[in-house]
Amino acid sequence: MKIAIGADHGGFDLKESLAQSLRLQGYVVVDCGTFSDRSVDYPEYGVAVGESVANGEADTGIAVCGSGIGIAMAANKVRGIRAATIHDVTTARLARAHNNANVACFGARIIGFETALDALKAWLETSFDVTSERHLRRVAQLDGL
Ligand code: RB5
Repeated sequence: MKIAIGADHGGFDLKESLAQSLRLQGYVVVDCGTFSDRSVDYPEYGVAVGESVANGEADTGIAVCGSGIGIAMAANKVRGIRAATIHDVTTARLARAHNNANVACFGARIIGFETALDALKAWLETSFDVTSERHLRRVAQLDGL
């Protein structure tokens, strides 16, 4: 499984830690930057992660900024992307099962590494609930917007 990951300066340290953990678990990581803690603008990195997922290069995406909000807004500008800001295992599970979210966004100033790692594990282990007609209908409506 290929995972695209990107961050601005506010999310750089958490991105590096999550990427390292994913590589150790055997995932292929596509690093969309940024590559230092020098100040950058989060839209570029949210879009880079979104495009990597939307064009099929990666199976899922992770985007990190200070709050997990701005970079989610940016990723959601890419057609086909359903980016969700994830705070814990529950939001990770619901975003996947109900919303078929394909980019997980984290706020490095909001949650710590262990919480992010637990949430990411839940994200990777949860599939979209395709048995639910209502979730299928609602996500189809989202994609039609
Ligand atoms: C950068 O200072 C900060 O604004 C950014 O990481 C993010 O929180 C934006 O939503």
